[in-house]
Amino acid sequence: MYDILEIIEKKNNQGALNKGEIDYAVMGYVNNEISDDDMTLLLKAIMINGMSDKEIIDLTDIMLHSGEVLELDFDSVDKHSTGGVGDKTTIVLAPLVAALGVKVAKMSGRSLGHTGGTIDKLESISGFQTKMTLEEVQDQVDDIGVAIVGQMNNLCPADKKIYALRDVTGTVKSIPLIASSIMSKKLASGASKIVIDLKVGNGALMTNMEDAKELARIMVKIGHLNGKDTICVLTNMDEPLGNAVGNSLEVIESIETLKGNGPSDLNDLVINFGSLMLSLDKNMAMEDAIEYMENALKTGVGYEKFKELVKFQHGDINDIKVSSRTKEVLSSESGYIKSINALKIGELARKLGAGRLKKDDVIDSTVGFVLHKKVSDKVEVGESLVTVYYNDKEVTDEEILSCFEFSKSVVSKPILIYEIIR
Ligand code: URA
Repeated sequence: MYDILEIIEKKNNQGALNKGEIDYAVMGYVNNEISDDDMTLLLKAIMINGMSDKEIIDLTDIMLHSGEVLELDFDSVDKHSTGGVGDKTTIVLAPLVAALGVKVAKMSGRSLGHTGGTIDKLESISGFQTKMTLEEVQDQVDDIGVAIVGQMNNLCPADKKIYALRDVTGTVKSIPLIASSIMSKKLASGASKIVIDLKVGNGALMTNMEDAKELARIMVKIGHLNGKDTICVLTNMDEPLGNAVGNSLEVIESIETLKGNGPSDLNDLVINFGSLMLSLDKNMAMEDAIEYMENALKTGVGYEKFKELVKFQHGDINDIKVSSRTKEVLSSESGYIKSINALKIGELARKLGAGRLKKDDVIDSTVGFVLHKKVSDKVEVGESLVTVYYNDKEVTDEEILSCFEFSKSVVSKPILIYEIIR
């Protein structure tokens, strides 16, 4: 018989947990036999001391089988992001590739730490339902080719419960916990192929290349062990993606992108990921896939599909509220933008109410930021850097300005995609 305190102690002493011990802790937590406090101690011990490949593979397997495992009756490509600031890629990509014939049954998460979550963002569309049964997801994908839903109770309940606890206990940034969380969900949701946007930079969960490559290595290994084509794309998260940060503001920017008016970094990322998904799903040459994606953004087919998706999930696309209280933060310097600290911007958005500080906090979907300048842009003193949308909580101009660094000399555009690991 196992004992949770002994398991915690073993991990604190850098011991390797066997599958029985991991199963006892994880399933005990799911079944309310292990407390939040004990689970937090174990998560902290894992975060500090890490896990071997075998432990991570076992942990993923236990979380994957903590609920139902879907067998989809169609081939699908699942794209998942490790999370960033202003990362609304899924909201643009899912309807866009669906409009081009790729079936997308997407299970997404809520905000985690300073990073936003697709589900919180979509719920800023009035009425939008993110709770669906497996049958409803299947039916919707059969009908319109795309569904985006929150974590279903019967899929990976272990991840659902541990993810919410990690969000508020400072145990998010751990390679074993991130790898098992993402891969258990992807494997349980039945996708035939998995594409992961692994964000690297100060606004990401992985802040350096070495950790990012290690996370990519273990996720690709888990994918292959389970017979799934798995690709990790390492992308830049040193500055927020696009211009909007905050739930409804990000949905509005996603809609503009689907209409062909998106910011260039978001556009480029969508084209790159979409082409990868098309080439995987349809065996298409990358050059042809890129051309398809570029055309699709020009013609607006993705926007038509997005409207269909919103309607099927009971949302009103004409009712996306942003706060009417706004202020402009003006540049204190002239020159070029050298950096925009995505982590700080994410934390400030959370402070405004766009994310959670405690487990049961209710998100204010109407608040956030619109950045008017990105890294490498020229700026004059007194020009607006950011519009702040706020309600009852505020951030100061100084807090916003402290996210920006300026340079007198020209700054080159940041690299968007670093490496593809498969
Ligand atoms: N996304 C997830 O689904 N889980 C994590 O742990 C981090 C990002």
